[in-house]
Amino acid sequence: SPENKDEVLEINVYGWQWWFAFEYPQLGITTANEFVMPKDKVVKFNLRGYDVIHSFWVPSFLFKMDVVPGKTNAFELTPDKIGTYAGKCAELCGVDHARMLFQVKVVERDEFDAKMSELRVKGQTGKLDSDRINSDGQRPEERRL
Ligand code: CUA
Repeated sequence: SPENKDEVLEINVYGWQWWFAFEYPQLGITTANEFVMPKDKVVKFNLRGYDVIHSFWVPSFLFKMDVVPGKTNAFELTPDKIGTYAGKCAELCGVDHARMLFQVKVVERDEFDAKMSELRVKGQTGKLDSDRINSDGQRPEERRL
């Protein structure tokens, strides 16, 4: 279970023209444009693309990786500093490329748990069904944290 401190927390990142969605598959929570990570926890990101190539970039994390249609790119990261960090798409992807912005908040574990509960109460639950998105071109509605 995700309550186990040793377990890796997975976050699926979906990139489309022109926004990012974030999914916590172990917790059944989805969100958009902003997401939280618990400090000192290993997080595995799975990056998935659907239309054109985007790039998931958080300059403060010194990390950038392409989001490619039909492919999953993965990496792990353990945030060790509390804070709010700006992220953006780093690949020219169309007219609204410049507005593919997001925020990452690194918070203490209890604050992370509280945020997940808050999102659950707001109904930001369920999975972004990647197979269905792929086959009929439907994208989930944009939602904000
Ligand atoms: Cu997506 Cu630039």
